[in-house]
Amino acid sequence: MSLKSVLKRCAKFLVYGQPVVNKYVSVAHIDDNKLLAGKKILVTGGTSGIGLSVAKKIIAAGGEVIITGRSQDKLNNALKEIDSNNCKAIVFDIANITSIKSKFLDVVDLFDGKLDAVVSNAGIYKQKNFFDYTLDDYTRTMDTNFTGAFFLAQATIKYWLDNHIDGNLVFVSSERGIMSDVHPYGLSKVVCNSFVEGLAKQYGVNDIRVNAVAPGITATNINNINPDGNLWFDKRRIMRPEEIAEVVKFLLSDASKCVNGQIVACNEAYSVNMDC
Ligand SMILES: NC(=O)c1ccc[n+]([C@@H]2O[C@H](COP(=O)([O-])OP(=O)(O)OC[C@H]3O[C@@H](n4cnc5c(N)ncnc54)[C@H](OP(=O)(O)O)[C@@H]3O)[C@@H](O)[C@H]2O)c1
Repeated sequence: MSLKSVLKRCAKFLVYGQPVVNKYVSVAHIDDNKLLAGKKILVTGGTSGIGLSVAKKIIAAGGEVIITGRSQDKLNNALKEIDSNNCKAIVFDIANITSIKSKFLDVVDLFDGKLDAVVSNAGIYKQKNFFDYTLDDYTRTMDTNFTGAFFLAQATIKYWLDNHIDGNLVFVSSERGIMSDVHPYGLSKVVCNSFVEGLAKQYGVNDIRVNAVAPGITATNINNINPDGNLWFDKRRIMRPEEIAEVVKFLLSDASKCVNGQIVACNEAYSVNMDC
């Protein structure tokens, strides 16, 4: 812990009398049991955080993965870290909506014509005072966090229906999508959750599954929290990216075959209402 955070904690204790809580978490995981053997899975935004953890889990579970991101350099670093022949990468800016159809075909080609599942994870987070949002802030957030995922889902589901594939789509949403919100980030996740339920309802009969994880605050680059540091902040536990990835792995696997149209909150009940 940095000197600055130690001093901050001391000051907080002196002013509010709040006890300092130190929380560290070791992540349990389902045994490496080839749960995803032979599955070819696209993960958008796989260069860091939750997406990178998901990619590692897929490979450990016997699957093949293509990760995406906006920069070749960051993709190269992620490929180096993952260090597996079962991982490929492609520059694919999900906010470039008009390129999605052709990028999707590039992904299918890179997988030699077969794609079993997609993890729509790419996202950005920018929060300001409500009155300070510009149209550019709004559009960037919506395009990256929702509109891109919408058109990727459209291309993917069409491909699954045309090729009679029992596809599996997992969105990385947010607990913010379960709550009411005025910020573009939260709103992008609210729409995402409705989309997940709608798609599952519509294409469940075609054996296509669509679910989401809705993480609470997770220690990644998006909020500059170190997953190996104290995971206690503002009276709540911070999640580790691997924990979220473990739930994504379960949703991607046949072990969750009876689960469809669900938003799985991964936030230690933070978004559960309790009126009594
Ligand atoms: N961390 C949290 O507290 C938290 C909580 C709830 C939900 N989430 C959600 O989790 C998802 C992953 O975020 P993270 O926390 O793992 O943060 P992160 O480490 O910053 O990862 C974000 C990923 O998205 C990619 N990305 C951003 N814009 C993109 C674009 N236009 N096209 C393609 N890829 C793009 C980034 O890749 P490049 O920068 O290389 O392009 C990076 O790989 C997001 O959807 C986020 O909303 C996070």
